[in-house]
Amino acid sequence: MTDAAKLKTMAGEAALGHVEDGMRLGIGTGSTAEAFVRVLADRVHAGLDVVGVTTSDRTEALCRELGVPTATLETVPQLDLTIDGADEVDDRLRLIKGGGGALLREKIVAAASDRMLVIADASKKVDTLGAFPLPIEINGFGMMATYLAIQKAAANLGLEGDMILRRRGADPFITDSGHLILDASFSRIPDPEALSQALHQVPGVVEHGLFIGLASEAILASENGIETLTA
Ligand code: 5RP
Repeated sequence: MTDAAKLKTMAGEAALGHVEDGMRLGIGTGSTAEAFVRVLADRVHAGLDVVGVTTSDRTEALCRELGVPTATLETVPQLDLTIDGADEVDDRLRLIKGGGGALLREKIVAAASDRMLVIADASKKVDTLGAFPLPIEINGFGMMATYLAIQKAAANLGLEGDMILRRRGADPFITDSGHLILDASFSRIPDPEALSQALHQVPGVVEHGLFIGLASEAILASENGIETLTA
């Protein structure tokens, strides 16, 4: 296992300490969330009774492969705890997510949960959000108009930078919900709340990767051990 993989497993194992018998879990997307699913599967095989609502087709497939029971948000609409990774986390537990393209379902699932626990390696902790390009999920209809409207909304907040349509090979990346993603390199987002509100005013924006007021705790793994941030 690489050092990076060990840190993800360490964070996943620490997250298991928050999981109790009978819980309805939201299960995130990405390599750290997958490390959590692997340690969760061992616990399930040892008798832990939980059900997971997954945030992507990719996580759903892994849960099925490893024998972690899943349900949909339609049948289990209220969750006890969501465990998910992040691309950036600040000291107020504001996040950038969506590097894996699952931000819409991740946000819906986190919002349906009593608590959201972030798991990450400590390199994801930042003073100011924005070095990681902000994923913005958009409807394909009128894409260019949406692009320009986002650019204008951001400029009104003093934010400038490249916005690139995410691709998978030669084709546009399509999310599990059938949308496109723009990755916006603003470098620094000093006022994430203002940007979040402004983006929600743009009709073609389906959702964005700023998670504000959703995470209640973060477990950050480094070679020095586990650091916990609480809201
Ligand atoms: C997927 C996400 C991921 O949680 C985020 O990209 C972190 O991924 P990783 O654990 O692989 O670094 O938001 O949409």
